[in-house]
Formats: sequence, structure tokens, C-alpha cells
Amino acid sequence: METQTLPINERARKINEAVERVVNRAVRSRDAWLASLGLGGRAAAYDDERYEFVGGAADTLRRKHYDKSLRLLWKAEVAAPWSSFRDCNAHERELTDLAERSLTDGERAARARITSAEFRALLDREYTPEQKRAVVAILSAIGHGEAYAWLVSASLLTRVQSTGARAALTMQVLEEAKHFVVMRELIEAFGVEVPRQSAWEYLLLEGTLKAEGLDRFFGMNVMVESIALSIFGMLSTLPGLEVLRLFHLDESRHTALPVAYFNEFPMSKRERASALGRLRRLKMVLPTLPLVMLIEPHLATLGVDAFDFAGSVMRKVTTLSTRAGFMDAEGAAAQNQVFEGIFNAYCRLTRDGHRQKRFLDAETTLGDVELAVERAAFGAAAPASA
Ligand SMILES: [Fe+2]
Ligand SMILES: [Fe+2]
Repeated sequence: METQTLPINERARKINEAVERVVNRAVRSRDAWLASLGLGGRAAAYDDERYEFVGGAADTLRRKHYDKSLRLLWKAEVAAPWSSFRDCNAHERELTDLAERSLTDGERAARARITSAEFRALLDREYTPEQKRAVVAILSAIGHGEAYAWLVSASLLTRVQSTGARAALTMQVLEEAKHFVVMRELIEAFGVEVPRQSAWEYLLLEGTLKAEGLDRFFGMNVMVESIALSIFGMLSTLPGLEVLRLFHLDESRHTALPVAYFNEFPMSKRERASALGRLRRLKMVLPTLPLVMLIEPHLATLGVDAFDFAGSVMRKVTTLSTRAGFMDAEGAAAQNQVFEGIFNAYCRLTRDGHRQKRFLDAETTLGDVELAVERAAFGAAAPASA
């Protein structure tokens, strides 16, 4: 490369560099001193001398979550052609057109790009008004959860260590934003009134957003996202709700994030053993109990036993909690037993002729693909079939 070097004032250069060195030392010493006194200091957990976030590269986390998320990134324009989204680039649109051209007439008809009006007509045809209200009640509960997932994942960006973990969370922020906006259109297409958050969802989600630091990982990625994953797995085979299959895949990745993170940055022994921490997290779980009781009629409309659903969620939650280090195996088994007891006691009170049932062995996820995803994510915690 050829350039015409310009003359500079050598003395000015030396002075500027000397001034910068003095100010640099002063600024960094001041921030180190403030940090040592617990009075703040540098706001960014960023190590510019190593060109890395504090905590290092954490490439495993990056590959597992950021790279994989980008690989699996889906576009609403393809997955929900009836929606208002135009998020494909020219290349992606061309690929979709090519793929459609190679289909047989029958396949093409099944995959036909349907308009918003046609989609609404399909929902009108397939669902009774009561079924519509049930789907909307269940989906909007998790739709409100998507709003909080977006906020919580964004807030965790400043709490985690390492470049890899931040890259992973950045993808989660992007995916939760997509889930929220796409879910809104899907719910609105049903054309029935969208319910507000119930008091239990309000307590669960506010409790998660206000939780201390990494307890938010528990409230959101373990608790709320296990509920989300289970709802998507339960509904994705219903007419018009095929797009939920993609939500399900994203959520399975999100539920795995705390486990991957604590593998790299384990909680201290004191944090793991803290009875107060366990109590805080148990308090976060509690609103889910009355929530299940509240949505039981809607699940019943769709032919799902609310406590089969709750049991399958709780099994996933305790599996993830144990793997991430939020509780030990003994604590998990005890908690499962307590929930099993409460579910059965409530059913004895409210259902004629109820017989003791192992709700925590139930599975309400239906699609083969979704079951395979859950088997990969939860291993032994996911039964081989529904
Ligand atoms: Fe989500
Ligand atoms: Fe999520």
C-alpha cells in the first residue's frame, strides 16, 4: 500500500502521549479504588487490555448458543406467511421460491403461502369459539412471559461473565423479541379478547425480573422457559399453530443456557448450599401452583389434564435446576414429592373418584420432533413417548 505520509509535530506527539498516560493511570486507579470500597468503579465488566469481557472468551458457550442460534435463526415471513413480517432478504426469498417450485402440486398446496384473511378463515373453520378462547388464554399467558423474557435476558447481559455468555444472551434477546412480536400477531389472528396477565403470572414474572443477579437465570431460563417449552410442545400440532415448533426449538436452547453457563462459571459452594437462596427460588416457583389451577378449565377444553401438564413442567424444572446447581439431587427429589402430593391432594378435593396418580411422570408434549428435542435436552427426564 502506498501512502503519502504527512509531517507531524514530534514534540506535540510526545506531550499528548504523556498526558494520556497520566490520565489513564489516574482514571483506572480511581475506578479500582472505588471498586475496592464497593462504591462503583468501572461500569463495564470489560477487560480492554485483553480485548475481552471479564471472564474470558468462553468459546464453548459461544458455539453452543450464539453460533447455534444463528444457524437455526428462522424468519417469520417463511414460518408464518400470513403475518405482516417481511424479514427475509432477497436470497432467502429466492431459496423459498426455489424450494416451493420443486414440490409436487399436493405438497405445494399444503405449504401454500396463505394470506392473513385465509389464515383467520382457517382458524374459524378449525376451532369453536370456546376452543379459541382456550388457546388464546394459554398462549397469551406465555405471550406476556415473552415480554418479560425479552427484558430479563437483556438485563442479564450486564450480569454474566465472558464474551461467550454475552454473545449467547444477545441471541436470546433477539429471539425473545421475535417471539413477542410474532406471538402477538398469532394471538390476534384468533380474533377473541386477549386476557390480561393473571395475578399469578404477574407475581411470577415480576419476581423474576426483580430477582437478585443470576437468580433471574432460574426464574426465567429454568422456570418460565420450561413452562413456555411445554406449552409450545403441547400446542404445536394444533391447526395453524405449526410455527410454535420453532418457538419450542428456541426455548429448548434457552432452558439449557444456565447449565452451560454454570459449567464454565460454577456457583460457589456457599451459593450452592445457601438455604436462603433455595428459599428465594422456591418462593419464585410458588405462583405457578395457583396459575395451573386457574388455567385448568382452558387446558381441559383442549383435552389436556392441567396436572399432567404441571407435572411434566415440574419434572423439567427440577432436572434443569439440579444440572445447573440450583439444588442437589436430594432436594430435587423432595421437591418433586411435595408437588406430587399437592397435585393429588387438590385433585382429590376437586375431582370425583380421583385416584393417586404420578403426575410428574406425565408428558403433554405431542409432536415427534418436539419429543425428540426434549429427549435431547432433558435426557431421562423426558419420557420416550407421550
Ligand atoms: Fe421465548
Ligand atoms: Fe426463551
